[in-house]
Amino acid sequence: MKNINMGNKMEASAVALGCMRMGGLEEKRVDAIMDTAIENGINFFDHADIYGGGNAEVVFGAYLKRHPGIREKMTIQTKCAIHDGQFDFSKEHILKSVDGSLSRLGLDYVDVLLLHRPDTLMEPEEVAEAFDILESSGKVKYFGVSNHNMMQMELLKTAVKQPLFINQLQFSVTEAGLVTSGMNVNMKNAESVMHDGSFLEYSRIKNITIQTWSPFQYGFFEGNFVDNEKFPVLNAKLSEIGEKHGLSKTGVAAAWILRHPANMQLIAGTMNPEHLADICKAAEVTLSRSEWYEIYRAAGHTLP
Ligand SMILES: NC(=O)c1ccc[n+]([C@@H]2O[C@H](COP(=O)([O-])OP(=O)(O)OC[C@H]3O[C@@H](n4cnc5c(N)ncnc54)[C@H](OP(=O)(O)O)[C@@H]3O)[C@@H](O)[C@H]2O)c1
Repeated sequence: MKNINMGNKMEASAVALGCMRMGGLEEKRVDAIMDTAIENGINFFDHADIYGGGNAEVVFGAYLKRHPGIREKMTIQTKCAIHDGQFDFSKEHILKSVDGSLSRLGLDYVDVLLLHRPDTLMEPEEVAEAFDILESSGKVKYFGVSNHNMMQMELLKTAVKQPLFINQLQFSVTEAGLVTSGMNVNMKNAESVMHDGSFLEYSRIKNITIQTWSPFQYGFFEGNFVDNEKFPVLNAKLSEIGEKHGLSKTGVAAAWILRHPANMQLIAGTMNPEHLADICKAAEVTLSRSEWYEIYRAAGHTLP
């Protein structure tokens, strides 16, 4: 597994395991997916306080307890700021959420904390106070955001002292807004509408790692596009290119994300060891420029 540089602060595997679907999994299945992750070089694990209502962190914490010494080989990330039908960047909530995550994970610290979704009522000074406390107490090493645009990050940076070098965003070959609007600049078509404030280019200029969530889902959790009869052209192309590279269709869809020079980190959500191993193989393959565009067009995107 290749590692990527994240904000010149740390190195981590290009494929990370997202633990959103881990809550409620029985011990045997947790061990199977974690063993596969580790055997395939994954060293980065993504959580949130809300995954499985907190249960994903509980199950993961139990795994860590069963495997002494393993935690030090991992980068563990969690998120806060969504609760009770609201987004909440208050100091009180951020501190309380991290304490809850640490207790469920059975840890003294997490490596990374992300603000899950932008709270329009945010006071950057309050966030800064919370981050300072979390950093000085040793509970959190690094900080970042999720689902933010460029100006929201700039707003936070007016008060937050710690570097914010991660933003987690939805990105897949079917949900490709991050690249699509940039290829339709100044056009009148729907694809030209920018929904993220040119985040892709901003991330490259500022050395921010984009973590891609739901890399194989279409829509907002509508389902997986691999082997889905709604995407016959895309699946035929994934299959054709997969044969050339010895990758499954899922592997090619992962290689498509990892081929982008923005150096994104793919957050895989599968709990199936076979699927995860396929995804990890993608990190060893570099698609050609032509293959990248062929896959993009096969997903139904057009170029002006
Ligand atoms: N920041 C945010 O707002 C946000 C939002 C959503 C997710 N996330 C993060 O992103 C991670 C990934 O999200 P996700 O789980 O929606 O993404 P995903 O990896 O695109 O989807 C995984 C789901 O697709 C299914 N699937 C079916 N066929 C598959 C195949 N051939 N290969 C791989 N998966 C297949 C998986 O089932 P099997 O388990 O049976 O393979 C699983 O249910 C989450 O765990 C979480 O950490 C963040």
